[in-house]
Amino acid sequence: MRLLATSDLHLGHRANRDALVALPPHPDDWLIVAGDVGERVDHLVFALETLTPRFARVIWTPGNHDLWCPPDATDRTRGQARYDELVAVCRSFGAITPEDPYPEWPDGTGTRIVPMFLLFDYSFRPPDVPLDAAVRWARETGVGASDEQFLDPQPWPSRAAWCHARCDLTEARLAALPAGEPTVLINHWPLRYDLARPPRVPRFSLWCGTMRTSDWHRRFHARVVVSGHLHLRTTLWRNGVRFEEVSLGYPRDWHADRGLAWYLRDVLSDASPTSARFAPGRDPFFDHPIDV
Ligand SMILES: [Fe+2]
Ligand SMILES: [Fe+2]
Repeated sequence: MRLLATSDLHLGHRANRDALVALPPHPDDWLIVAGDVGERVDHLVFALETLTPRFARVIWTPGNHDLWCPPDATDRTRGQARYDELVAVCRSFGAITPEDPYPEWPDGTGTRIVPMFLLFDYSFRPPDVPLDAAVRWARETGVGASDEQFLDPQPWPSRAAWCHARCDLTEARLAALPAGEPTVLINHWPLRYDLARPPRVPRFSLWCGTMRTSDWHRRFHARVVVSGHLHLRTTLWRNGVRFEEVSLGYPRDWHADRGLAWYLRDVLSDASPTSARFAPGRDPFFDHPIDV
């Protein structure tokens, strides 16, 4: 029995859908799906129709793409209503969402599996860049994010406000867990700035998380932290805690001949053989060290 993880299935792409359908059953394992299943509710339905019969349990968190809605679309939900719709879909398939009680991993350690939905608030930026200049600062290097057009935060006044509401709610739930109880923290966006600056587009960090979660891995006793979003698969350590970026990504980001099963990360295995797949010891963020 393993706790496996993936994210960024991006089922709008045919090759990714084919890989999902070809995934063999894992009847003893649980599967984390950490966001960016696709841009449409139908993509989540397709994913859960395929995955829930093949795994003992499926744990889901949303990503930015899952929340997208074209500004002029009248036939689709947006903002909080979209999130609520996705949660309802998950529940109809028995998948665990960030709105559900945190299930316990049955290895006798009391470990809680914690899917979170925390968004981003533009705080992953250097201290000398003011918030109101941040998006312009990113655009100076040609970096932008479609979230600016497609991720409608309504009824929240801004994406940052929605992020802060999510952090408040999630932080309170985590603080209410029994003292010292270990966790597996799961969020689409990385929890730390130093793990959220893609080397080729470091200013994309604006859309990658919030400084509010920088120390959550220590405060909430994480055995491992699972995220996606960057399409940069890594296994890295901070303060003795393992951080797993488990994305599949767009077809250009993975090798179809390996199949999806190759990319599922065994996140509670301390000696994860998958670590070796991603150049152990090499930290793609090393050129951008920051202490937070
Ligand atoms: Fe993605
Ligand atoms: Fe994403």
